[in-house]
Amino acid sequence: MKVLVIGSGAREHALVRGLSADPDVSAVVAAPGNPGIDLIAQCEPLADVCDAAAVLAVAARHTVDLVVVGPEAPLVAGVSDALREAGYAVYGPSAAAAQLEGSKSFAKEVMASAGVPTALAHVCTTMAEVESALDALGAPHVVKDDGLAAGKGVVVTDDREAALAHARACLAKPDGQLVVEEFLDGPEVSVFCICDGTSVRALSPAQDFKRVGDGDLGPNTGGMGAYSPLPWAPPHLSDWVIEHIAQPTIDEMHRRETPFVGTLYVGLAMTSRGPRVVEFNARFGDPDGQVSLARLVTPLGTLLYAAATGRLDDADDLHHRPESAVVVVLAAEGYPAAPVPGGTIEGLDAAAEVPGAWVLHAGTRRAEDGRIVAAGGRVLDVMAVGADLASARDTAYRAVSCLELAGGHHRSDIALAAARGEIHIPGSDT
Ligand code: AMP
Ligand code: GLY
Repeated sequence: MKVLVIGSGAREHALVRGLSADPDVSAVVAAPGNPGIDLIAQCEPLADVCDAAAVLAVAARHTVDLVVVGPEAPLVAGVSDALREAGYAVYGPSAAAAQLEGSKSFAKEVMASAGVPTALAHVCTTMAEVESALDALGAPHVVKDDGLAAGKGVVVTDDREAALAHARACLAKPDGQLVVEEFLDGPEVSVFCICDGTSVRALSPAQDFKRVGDGDLGPNTGGMGAYSPLPWAPPHLSDWVIEHIAQPTIDEMHRRETPFVGTLYVGLAMTSRGPRVVEFNARFGDPDGQVSLARLVTPLGTLLYAAATGRLDDADDLHHRPESAVVVVLAAEGYPAAPVPGGTIEGLDAAAEVPGAWVLHAGTRRAEDGRIVAAGGRVLDVMAVGADLASARDTAYRAVSCLELAGGHHRSDIALAAARGEIHIPGSDT
């Protein structure tokens, strides 16, 4: 089978790597891909991943059997719909189904209909509604832009003025709408659910580090690192998520005649009252998806093709390796506020030679003279596997220390609290 992957980040690099390792996958094409992907697959230029006609042209030129759409923007823009209409097997939801990520109020409505546990929420379109929602729910305040905001749409604060200021900014947008939500206390978990429209399989859970700095300080980012498995989480959490969250959601989407085919990313808070959904996304997480995928042993192409063609029931159960996986993100100077592009990256070969480590390209470009330079906020994902979290993080940080990028920065505490047994679910003894 020949597979086309749409996207250019570390998530797509991980997908290409996983697909290439499947003996039933004969070739992988990426559009536009990146310099790291280019070493293991064919990259095709694609100026805009949301341009359905351009994506169709690449798919046709390579007569691919499966298209995997990586990022949320083309999903919400309807690229999967265009590909499906043209007869391709597509792993990635329709625009209608991707509204689970594209609109927080829609996701809340589906969760309510499906009986999925989540934070109490008020959908607001006026400042008066915002004020009364903030009063009703109390501090800490959680104010979320309704639409896609690339990780910058959510403000969590004790400061009522800051909550109101974010609300004003959200409502100032055309058709501005926002959600004020109850604060959820407890560690966060990402569970990636592979869906074929009616059935669901879940990858092993991961934990993401969203803040830019050590100790969860500083602004939110797209994610600065992740690890899997979660030694502190309840056993069989993925099964619980399927039964109580993913399957009811998939059933509700099916009932609405907008079946969800692709990855339902369930972002959970492990609260004292049990797991609650913080967010749904319609794709693999980045970088949290990379560690769950790194542990997946089940051949990826076969799995995603089964999901894309509605035959997940025929697929084997998912298998994960018992080893731990850790990813540390190397970000460009100034990320997340104002990332500085163009910095030269050195040490890629040395990092890849650290046993148990490999490097995924997140935001890089090959300069005309052959240098690899930073071309995004998050530049590289340094991946590692090891017998346990402590050894995986040792390996990851050894590989990170081989890399050089002027002004580049990374967190030094990815998976540290988990490796030390210091993560606890509020109100539980574990
Ligand atoms: P979202 O875009 O919905 O994923 O939110 C981004 C981040 O904001 C989450 O990963 C959480 O860290 C935080 N967050 C979102 N909703 C809540 C909530 N209800 N309570 C506490 N933190 C939240
Ligand atoms: N790392 C969080 C996300 O992919 O949304």
